[in-house]
Formats: sequence, C-alpha cells, structure tokens
Amino acid sequence: MPAFKPETSIFKDHDVLDEEWTPETIQGRDKEIETYHEYLQPVINGWKPKNIFLYGKTGVGKTVVTESLLEDLEEGAEAYDVDLSIVMITCDNQSTSYQTAVKLLNQLLRQRGKSPVPTTGYSQQDIFDKLWAEIDAIGGTILFVMDEIDNISSPDDILYQIPRARKNNYVENARLGIIAISNDYSFTEDLSPKAKSTLRETELHFTAYDADELEDILRDRAEKAFHEGVIEEGVIQRIAALAAKEAGDARLAMDLLLEAGETAVRNGTTKVTEEDAMNAQEQLESNWVASAIKAISLQEQLALATVLTRDCEGKSPTRTSDLYDRYCNLCKELAREPSTSRQMREHLNELAFQNVLNKHERNRGVEGGRYYEFELEPDVEAMLTAAHRIESRIFDDVFVNEWTQKAIRNKQADDDRLEFLSAPISEQN
Ligand SMILES: Nc1ncnc2c1ncn2[C@@H]1O[C@H](COP(=O)(O)OP(=O)(O)OP(=O)(O)O)[C@@H](O)[C@H]1O
Ligand SMILES: [Mg+2]
Repeated sequence: MPAFKPETSIFKDHDVLDEEWTPETIQGRDKEIETYHEYLQPVINGWKPKNIFLYGKTGVGKTVVTESLLEDLEEGAEAYDVDLSIVMITCDNQSTSYQTAVKLLNQLLRQRGKSPVPTTGYSQQDIFDKLWAEIDAIGGTILFVMDEIDNISSPDDILYQIPRARKNNYVENARLGIIAISNDYSFTEDLSPKAKSTLRETELHFTAYDADELEDILRDRAEKAFHEGVIEEGVIQRIAALAAKEAGDARLAMDLLLEAGETAVRNGTTKVTEEDAMNAQEQLESNWVASAIKAISLQEQLALATVLTRDCEGKSPTRTSDLYDRYCNLCKELAREPSTSRQMREHLNELAFQNVLNKHERNRGVEGGRYYEFELEPDVEAMLTAAHRIESRIFDDVFVNEWTQKAIRNKQADDDRLEFLSAPISEQN
C-alpha cells in the first residue's frame, strides 16, 4: 500500500475553509450591503461615482463584500450598457503613493492586455501622466479600489490626485471614483485635510460579527466543507462564541473550524467534537504567540518575560517605571546586560505594536502627567505554552527559575523571589 493515502472521512471539501475560497452567499451583512449598494448606485445611473471609505476590524468581511458587490455592479453595468472599468489592488506594506500609482496603472494595463511599466525609473509625475492618458483612452466610469490602504506609508498624493483628476483637467473623458478599504480608522487622522475630506466623503463601517452572525457563516461553510453528520452538535456554536469573544473575526472562526477538523483527522476519529474546537483555539493561539516570540529580538524577549512575571502574579497592567526595575533584576538574575530605560520603553512599545502586549495610557491630570502601563495580550497559559514550545533561551531560563515554576502552578509566585525582582535596583547592589 502507498505511504500516502487520501483522507476521506472528515472533509468533503477542505478548500472551502481556505481564506482564498469565495463564498456564494454573504451571511449577516444585509444592512451594510444595502448601504454599500446605495453608495455604488450612481455608477449605474451614469453619474459621478462616490468616493467611499470602508473601514472595520480584520475579518469582518470588507474584502469579500466589496468583491461580491463589485461583481454585481459589473453585471448591472453590462445589462444596462454602462461603460465601467474596475481596478482593484491590495496595497503593499510600506508602499508609497508612487508605488501605488504604478500598481494601479499596471493593473489597468494588464486588464487591457498591455505590458506593464517597470516599477522604478519613472518620476511620480510620469506615472500619473501615463495613468491619466490610459484613463482617457478607456473613458466611461473607472473605479479604483485600494484594499488595505492603511499599508501605504504616504497616501496623500494618490488620494488627492485621482478624485480631482477631472476637476484639475488631467482627465477629460472619464468619471473617476475611489474605494479605500482599511482596518484602521485612525489612518485617516494623518492625512492632509484635502485627502481626508475626500476619503471621508462617504464612510461605511463594518462592525465585528456577533456570535449569531458567525454561526450563520460557519454553518454555511461547514455544510460544504464536511461530510454530513461529522460535526457534532454544539461545535459550530462553540466556535462562533469563541471567535465572537476574541474579535468577531470570520477568518478566525473559519480557521478554528478548519483546525478542529484537522485535529479530528490527526486523531483518526470520525467526528469533530467540542473538545476538538477547544483544542483548536489553544493550538491557534499558541501558534500565533510562538511565531510572535520567534520574531522578536533577545532584548524584547527579556522585556516580554518581565511583563509575563507580573501577569503570573495577576498584578498587571504595570507601569513602565516599575517594569524597568523588575527587568533589570531579571537581567541580573539571568546574567544578561540590561538595556537603558529608554531602550526598554522602546522594546515595550514595539511589543505593543506587534500586539504581544496591550498598552494603556493613564492620565493623572495636570499634576501627575501621563504615563503608560503594559500587560500581556495573550493568556498567560498561551504565552507559557508557546514560549516553551519554541525553546526560547530567555523563556527557558525564566522557566527553570523556581519562582516562575511556582507562578505557573499557582499563578502566585513565591513572595521572596518576587520581592527581589520588584525591589529597586539600588537596594540590591
Ligand atoms: N459575511 C460573510 N459571509 C461569508 N463569509 C465571510 C463573511 N465575512 C467574512 N467572510 C470570510 O471570512 C474571511 C475574512 O473576510 P475578509 O477577507 O472579507 O475580511 P476583511 O474585513 O477584508 O479583513 P482584513 O481587514 O484582515 O483584510 C474570508 O475568508 C471571507 O470569505
Ligand atoms: Mg481584507
């Protein structure tokens, strides 16, 4: 018998749970779709399109709903003989307005069967001139859709130029509109007033999914992905509740369902159980934390381990200055050279930026001023399991410490050891 044989007991169509898979029906977004539809209607009327800013947290259906509605819009345009072109891109991380303009231009050229331009070697003005020429040659209504626009590091030019191209006489024959999609609303704060006002002209907000909405999404997928009767009663509800509690993220919900199914396959069982769902959550959380820890520097790991010791005691969030004392003590304990307090603050900020820590701003009024407190983002257990799994030197050193072991067991560390860690450094030297 061959060493590999296909799995046939659990999954009917595994790919249905893949991020790339496009659902036939969108669940739980009726109100939003109605509003979005209304915003796109001018296109079919042959009027100037609205500039739309769609925002909402990750996994709330911004991309999938946009793609589905734009497909409907194209169908409508064809039925009513409206000259419509849609250019949709996902903005790359740290890209500039120039790089985004090149990407839009090349997408437009490819759609028209033309060769793309090189990504470097032109001035920004050259690229915009080529874009205007192409736009005028196409004519009709052209929608530029920029997904994940918050990835652009300097978006002002692109957000200013495209919507005003006609008014500024760069373009004569076409009506232009932009749809900008972001999971960060505050991204608009740093825009120039003109770009901001264009973008905020027509806003659409997708809220996080609640457990009922996630359940509908999951049921629809599960029916296609799994053989009948494989998913035990309660699994979908449990996963929907878990994902709703986390962030109301449909991607996470689907990942959990996939992981639960794969757990059942690994265990050689014929049913996906609630226990598989719970294990899936732990597994995903641990995977995420493990890759986050792997990606940070040694000094950042030390800063993270410091916060972990506070969380083990159940005494977080902790003020930066208190963490620094503890951090120095931990470094001393582990025979590592500590960073300066300013560097340590930077480590903490970086960890918060990576979502490994939560950062809270506190304000003590006029007298006390402003300060920050930090705590772990994941559960202490998830952090400990992940750190252990990846065999981080820093965390392993912390683990072997008697006080951490005790903290892990009791979530209450040994008083003497903690006193040592918490004491101001001056008292220990
Ligand atoms: N209402 C829904 N019905 C069916 N599937 C959905 C729905 N919402 C989201 N999904 C699915 O969940 C996953 C995430 O959705 P999507 O990519 O649209 O999220 P997003 O808001 O664009 O997230 P991000 O900000 O991370 O890009 C996709 O696989 C998508 O097919
Ligand atoms: Mg998206």
